[in-house]
Amino acid sequence: MPTALVLGASRGLGLEFAKQYLADGWSVYATHRAEADRVRLRDLGAQTLALDVLAADDLAGLAWQLEGERVDVAVVNAGVYGPRNSNPQHPPTNGEFDLVMHTNVLAPMRLLPRLAPLLGPARGTLAFMSSRMGSISATGAGHGMLYRVSKAAENMVARLAHVELGALGVRVLTLHPGWVRTDMGGPNAEVEVSASVAGMRRVIADAVAWPGGGFYDYRGQSLAW
Ligand SMILES: NC(=O)c1ccc[n+]([C@@H]2O[C@H](COP(=O)([O-])OP(=O)(O)OC[C@H]3O[C@@H](n4cnc5c(N)ncnc54)[C@H](OP(=O)(O)O)[C@@H]3O)[C@@H](O)[C@H]2O)c1
Repeated sequence: MPTALVLGASRGLGLEFAKQYLADGWSVYATHRAEADRVRLRDLGAQTLALDVLAADDLAGLAWQLEGERVDVAVVNAGVYGPRNSNPQHPPTNGEFDLVMHTNVLAPMRLLPRLAPLLGPARGTLAFMSSRMGSISATGAGHGMLYRVSKAAENMVARLAHVELGALGVRVLTLHPGWVRTDMGGPNAEVEVSASVAGMRRVIADAVAWPGGGFYDYRGQSLAW
């Protein structure tokens, strides 16, 4: 039975990844912060792990709890959007900058050495939940400035992971889920969460059609960096 590790599985896209892999009979490690989310994930059949990606102790705890485990798919999903009014006329405060950059950039960087020993033995796939808003060449609007900057930086983390972990046989993907109806995407978003995750799981599952090092959307389209 293959194993998935979903980092940030309490709601939205992460919860849907956990549900869909469980429905397919996978063994799923799912991380949460709140106790109510631990109970919900446990009741779904996941093995739960407490993880605030901002807490160094939690990252260390994740590593020892999973020591010796083989992970076929790890999804780095936890993320925040930050201030909705961030644009070139409204730069972020120190606190806003720190929260978004620590969650979306520093945490993925710190996760890499924790995830490599789990994914390497399985020659697994590491999927970063990025965004088209992190594409520098496709930038056409100034809104969401802080989020865009963080996702562009996360894309570089993913590319560096591809270079480094690729040598261990790990396939690294940068994914755009679409504009999805979650707490972050809001009720007017275009894509249903189940369709987004089903599409991304199709991409994750086919290493020939979607090789490591790529930036793909949930329909499998290649995106420009
Ligand atoms: N929805 C979209 O349209 C869209 C588009 C492009 C990219 N994305 C990306 O997809 C990912 C998931 O988005 P979503 O729409 O599902 O967002 P969401 O509904 O707001 O869920 C965010 C998830 O991240 C977790 N999280 C946030 N900060 C965390 C921290 N410090 N430690 C651990 N977990 C933390 C949350 O956990 P708690 O419940 O504990 O807060 C929650 O599980 C994000 O990386 C986002 O940038 C989303």
